[in-house]
Amino acid sequence: MPALVVVGLQWGDEGKGRIIHTFSRHADAVARYQGGNNAGHTLVLGNNEILALHLVPSGIVYPKVRCYIGNGVVVDPKALYEEVETLKKRGIKFTGRLGISPLCHVILPYHLQFEKYLGEGSRLGTTQRGIGPAYADKIARDGVRLMDYLDRDLLREKVIRNTRTKLSAFARPAEIRAVENQIFQEHKRLAPFLKPLVSDVSLELFTMLAKGKRVVLESAQGTFLDVDFGTYPYVTSSNPIASFAPCGVGLGPKSVDAVLGVAKLFTTRVGEGPFPSEIKGPLANRIRESGLEYGATTGRPRRIGYLDLPLLKKACRINGVDRLALTKLDTLAGVRPLRVCIGYKWRGRILREMPDDPRLLNGAQLIYKEFSGFSADLGGITRYAGLPASAKKLIDEVMEFTGVPAAIVSVGRSTKNQVILDPKFLKEWL
Ligand code: IMP
Repeated sequence: MPALVVVGLQWGDEGKGRIIHTFSRHADAVARYQGGNNAGHTLVLGNNEILALHLVPSGIVYPKVRCYIGNGVVVDPKALYEEVETLKKRGIKFTGRLGISPLCHVILPYHLQFEKYLGEGSRLGTTQRGIGPAYADKIARDGVRLMDYLDRDLLREKVIRNTRTKLSAFARPAEIRAVENQIFQEHKRLAPFLKPLVSDVSLELFTMLAKGKRVVLESAQGTFLDVDFGTYPYVTSSNPIASFAPCGVGLGPKSVDAVLGVAKLFTTRVGEGPFPSEIKGPLANRIRESGLEYGATTGRPRRIGYLDLPLLKKACRINGVDRLALTKLDTLAGVRPLRVCIGYKWRGRILREMPDDPRLLNGAQLIYKEFSGFSADLGGITRYAGLPASAKKLIDEVMEFTGVPAAIVSVGRSTKNQVILDPKFLKEWL
């Protein structure tokens, strides 16, 4: 032991990359448990170099950390190959460092085509990486697992069955054959790349934990993109929540020691769907520009909103969060007054819990609390006592409302720009 889950508490893009980057420095392993290359984790390295990761776990930048892609992840073989090649060119060594579960389902070109055909990209604002169709196949028992992909005959059989049943509604036979040929051609190049990466992720992690090694379980997306607890249907097709973490890597629920929930001190979301505390106009533009709030995978501008505390409280409950990591306090410099949602009003009733019903989410009036805000540059601050009074009040309000203590507050892009509030909790990791 110990295993730590790092989970996003909003709609993704909470700054998990930088937090996992901080924690993985002293970890023995980092494992991704769900999602696919729809994710984008941006890391700022020591030399201010920026690295965007999509499928490869964030621990890869530290040579001693072993990285895993667990069974809960959907893997696009071509996207993984390209990401690994790009990282290799940046000097990152992979030999013996990346293991993928053979139980992962693979994303194939027909998933991308099917997503396009269904128009989900525009209806739901997906990343158009074939994520939904690949998970749909998994649940429908039509999926191709990595172990199936590596068996040429089985792959051929499954692909032909799937392309003919799934694409025939909108593609001509010649187009279907072209997709099949594309998959078989790419397979020749990608299978030799993937084969040496196949690992029994469940067994390796279990053994590491039994030896007392440190393991970080890394989520992608966030709680309100969760297919069960998110703003359905405007969600992703997997379960980013912490309770899925052990399942997504093949461990039992008791293997998790602690859950660190990551939340931005404002809110963003990309794509369509309810967003009660959304703001538009000059303030939203200003926060977007100063926080560089553009999708790491698609480059889309993120929608911006105030911090929503009932939403955060609910996320803490669903994920069983032990400590909070609050990010991007620095982005709020100059926002005066600083508003924070503390409740919802619906037909004269005050709700302190975020409702599940999208009609309420879209129609409720929000109740805000105001803070005077701060203008100081927070870059060099590493202690809570050094923060401006209004920033401290904001952090205190978050902890009081959610009932969860904060362990870390980020005040800049680099892992050096962090205020540590709970050194005891972090002792094992930093
Ligand atoms: P999909 O995961 O591509 O199916 O997209 C479903 C929804 O999840 C869309 O609203 C996407 O914008 C959103 N989404 C997927 N991955 C991320 C992410 O890493 N950060 C933020 N939003 C995401």
